[in-house]
Amino acid sequence: MKEDLFSVKERVVVVTGGLGQLGRQFSLALLEGGARVVVMDVQVDEKKVAERFGDLCENPNLMFVAVDITSRASIEAGLQQVVERWGVPHALINNAALDSPPNAPASENGPFETYPEDSFDRVMEVNVKGVVLVCQVIGAALADAGRGSIINISSIYGLVSPDQRIYEFRRKNGATFFKPVAYSVSKSALLNLTRYLCTYWADKNVRVNTLTFAGVFNNQSEEFLKGYCAHVPLGRMAREDDYNGAVIFLVSDASAYMTGSNMVIDGGWTAW
Ligand SMILES: NC(=O)c1ccc[n+]([C@@H]2O[C@H](COP(=O)([O-])OP(=O)(O)OC[C@H]3O[C@@H](n4cnc5c(N)ncnc54)[C@H](O)[C@@H]3O)[C@@H](O)[C@H]2O)c1
Repeated sequence: MKEDLFSVKERVVVVTGGLGQLGRQFSLALLEGGARVVVMDVQVDEKKVAERFGDLCENPNLMFVAVDITSRASIEAGLQQVVERWGVPHALINNAALDSPPNAPASENGPFETYPEDSFDRVMEVNVKGVVLVCQVIGAALADAGRGSIINISSIYGLVSPDQRIYEFRRKNGATFFKPVAYSVSKSALLNLTRYLCTYWADKNVRVNTLTFAGVFNNQSEEFLKGYCAHVPLGRMAREDDYNGAVIFLVSDASAYMTGSNMVIDGGWTAW
């Protein structure tokens, strides 16, 4: 095997939502592989950055840029900062997204029939329009440079329906809880954005793929874990770093012939 097949050394990689749970993991793994990592997030303040990255904040291969992905002007300004420091990026990970947390307002986690229109708009604005805008600006820069890899982060809930039975325990406890619709709709949109851009930019040597993930352990309640893990052939939620290998693969030349695909990493969730 070619020694540097999976190398990401010196690649400039933009991770949107890089301060979040998984974005941080991708950034650390890429950094460890010798990449130059641009952590883009909607709010980049010193305290949060230090909390998330500790001493690594001083690492010369790590850069933090405040970008709101729902604003084209903000993305353009962010890209300019990156280009001035490291040139046009080699890879873009569209990872920033909104989901309704379990403690969101009751209406948001209520029945489909009354799911609030403004919640739908808010989720679609970030998860779909935001990703499209980032592709229009940063993806286009990759295309102009004649190379690159775009990775759109999706979810099992964008591929199959949430299993509402998992949340039965909340309903038994008196809450009205259904995993909301907007997240699922928004995440499935990325599957075809990937295919669209794969063909659109194929002649520019920009590869575009989706990574579909299952739930990550984040100190969820025992009741939730019991229901969720029973649905996973591997019997557990993902660890925070379970997806790093796929990210390295898609940024590196090991995936040189892969575009328009969806790689599902879900512990087997969608297998039954
Ligand atoms: N954690 C999971 O269980 C899980 C499972 C499947 C898929 N995913 C997907 O993985 C990705 C990361 O999830 P996570 O759990 O790390 O989420 P997270 O909430 O921890 O991080 C998301 C990040 O996106 C940022 N963000 C939100 N709106 C933004 C905007 N307008 N502009 C720029 N940044 C913005 C947030 O500030 C946050 O840092 C998401 O796309 C999510 O759908 C997560």
